[in-house]
Amino acid sequence: MDETSATKAGTYEFDKDFIVNRLGYGTMQLTGNGVWGPYKDPDQAADLIKSSFDLGVNFIDTADSYGPWHADTYLAKALKDYSDSDKIFISDKVGQVRTGENEWTPVGAPAFLRQEVELSLRLFNRDHEDLLFLHRIDSHYTLEEQVGELKKMQDEGKIKHIGVSQVTLDELKDVQKVAKIDAVENLYNVGHHKDDDEIVDYAKEQGMAFLPWFPLDTGNLTKADSPLNDIAKKYNASSAQIALAWLLKRSDNIIPIPGTSSLEHLKDNIAAANVNLSDEDFETLSKLQK
Ligand SMILES: NC(=O)c1ccc[n+]([C@@H]2O[C@H](COP(=O)([O-])OP(=O)(O)OC[C@H]3O[C@@H](n4cnc5c(N)ncnc54)[C@H](OP(=O)(O)O)[C@@H]3O)[C@@H](O)[C@H]2O)c1
Repeated sequence: MDETSATKAGTYEFDKDFIVNRLGYGTMQLTGNGVWGPYKDPDQAADLIKSSFDLGVNFIDTADSYGPWHADTYLAKALKDYSDSDKIFISDKVGQVRTGENEWTPVGAPAFLRQEVELSLRLFNRDHEDLLFLHRIDSHYTLEEQVGELKKMQDEGKIKHIGVSQVTLDELKDVQKVAKIDAVENLYNVGHHKDDDEIVDYAKEQGMAFLPWFPLDTGNLTKADSPLNDIAKKYNASSAQIALAWLLKRSDNIIPIPGTSSLEHLKDNIAAANVNLSDEDFETLSKLQK
């Protein structure tokens, strides 16, 4: 049987000092209901993140708004307990406050964005963010105020790469006038991609990574009635693996960041790196979204 390792998913180069494996992990499932409050077993949460490192994952997507702060606290613990923690690339996000379960409010006040970065660096015991996303554009502030503040922190050495999340192509082009954008993170999966296909291609052309959030359609693509089941049987794979293999084949700037609270599912997801979809099956899957 093939070894399970994210190293088999190929790599993406952010800069010559940081080349990441193209199968990451997203921490959002490690919280309470509605991404609010602590995860039911904090030690298990930190252990799960550490297991992802052991499986070759070196790209972790997170945000202080997950919990808030709970997922980041587990990540900080996992990093502290891991000898090669400086080799873990953190993809972080700022610019949203939480007021309760499933409540997300963009806040783009420059001083707030700066505070989030400073608190995250303190928690992660780092002097810079590897990749920092503006989680959402806040219409109460200009792009110069929001992305401009990230650019200032980049100039101060506190942020290496800047990204934007859930943007249209026009917004992405506007943001590029304020700062160099190295990554985009939008909702994207095999069942829901048409709206963003052109952003994936534009990002590739511009030398940006594309992080598809909800890569498993928040679990719907893995269910018993998954539309991926027939192709999954053909590859002796799980439907989650087919969803991730489709993303990996779609474009080499895509870094899937599946979220899970289960070690079994984590291993299943990483083993997607062993699935080589044929061109024909890739095309069939690409047409699933009507
Ligand atoms: N930028 C943004 O605005 C934004 C928004 C949302 C999410 N994100 C990021 O994207 C990451 C991924 O999104 P997500 O976690 O919400 O959704 P997802 O990865 O599409 O799906 C996660 C769901 O699928 C289940 N699952 C995972 N692997 C499975 C497997 N192999 N078999 C069966 N079920 C499986 C999980 O349940 P179990 O826990 O039981 O495995 C969970 O319910 C987040 O962690 C976060 O980092 C970003």
